[in-house]
Amino acid sequence: MKTIDSLGDLTGKKVLLRADLNVPLDGTTITDDGRVRASVPTIEKLLGAGASVIVMAHLGRPKGAPDPAFSLAPAAARLAELLGKPVTLAADLVGDDAKAKAAALEPGQVLMLENVRFDARETSKVDEERQALAGELAELADVFVSDGFGVVHRKQASVYDVAQILPAAGGLLVQKEVESLGKAVTDPARPYAVVLGGSKVSDKLGVIANLLTKADRLLIGGGMVFTFLAAKGYGVGKSLLEEDQLDTVKGYLKTAEENGVEIVLPTDIVAAEAFAADAAFEVVAADAIPAESMGLDIGPDSGALFASKLADAKTIVWNGPMGVFEFENFAGGTKAVAQAMIDSDGFSVVGGGDSAAAVRRLGFDEAGFGHISTGGGASLELLEGKVLPGLAVLEG
Ligand code: 3PG
Repeated sequence: MKTIDSLGDLTGKKVLLRADLNVPLDGTTITDDGRVRASVPTIEKLLGAGASVIVMAHLGRPKGAPDPAFSLAPAAARLAELLGKPVTLAADLVGDDAKAKAAALEPGQVLMLENVRFDARETSKVDEERQALAGELAELADVFVSDGFGVVHRKQASVYDVAQILPAAGGLLVQKEVESLGKAVTDPARPYAVVLGGSKVSDKLGVIANLLTKADRLLIGGGMVFTFLAAKGYGVGKSLLEEDQLDTVKGYLKTAEENGVEIVLPTDIVAAEAFAADAAFEVVAADAIPAESMGLDIGPDSGALFASKLADAKTIVWNGPMGVFEFENFAGGTKAVAQAMIDSDGFSVVGGGDSAAAVRRLGFDEAGFGHISTGGGASLELLEGKVLPGLAVLEG
């Protein structure tokens, strides 16, 4: 991958930087600023090299037109705090305000464009439409740096097309993500254990299929585990169950056995009366979930079992919470996995999205992990072994 150094002397240059500032918001309050913080090192490096920076990013999935609910204003304010310098937010993306502000930008200054997805061409499937927008974006700057790792799996104007117009390089975050996840994907130190959770098995089919040829152990929790338990013939009560995936999951269990991959399922479950923080709950055996209950977490014995399966692993990748960690009573399994990763001597990667948010929200020290990815879908696609368009375009 081409790096920032390949762009030559950046003194006085305007750098168009794609960041992933798609942060969770409660109103206008950022509830997890991990992605904003992760964007800082590259911006500081560019400013330190004498450049000015034009940040472009998306927030949410607006419908291709300006919508104040998806303004990047909260992200601009947080970035300004973290950088300790003003971050001016343009009123538009490639309109008069963005053009005027970009033209007036001085070395050391930071401008943020409004949400790239306020322009329908950003996500268009028609190449010419995306390229037209990319051309307008490219006119604002001299070079392009791609640092929005969370979006490199998207073939979009601000990620992919603009890199074909301006001299382009991967930023420090993208480099670090690719090195860390790449280490696990291509040449993991063994034993290689992967912990998968999250609500749906159907979101992770490609990942599981690929891991059944790569990993030594696959530990399954979260909502998706109930489809595995049902595939083994257990009753799962009112727990989340994807009936249409039962045959696929039975196939996974068979392939795992054939390939010598150990699939570790929970032995006990925290079963609740309802999906609520204050719902009454009990710990039951994984094969004895009462018909009227729903499993909302793996149980304490399973937490200990999972920890024991991670203790000697040399590479651990974790994607997806073990339970409804947002509710204190159902956070135990997720805490147990996070703690086991911290206790491990192996290289541990938290694969983005909800698990990264869980680590921070539950108060774990980020420094205890080898790497916490900022990518949700992007890290999953890397684990799936896919070629990501936003990375391929940065190759020399
Ligand atoms: C994410 O949140 O995973 C990234 O920001 C990508 O967002 P998207 O799935 O809306 O493209």
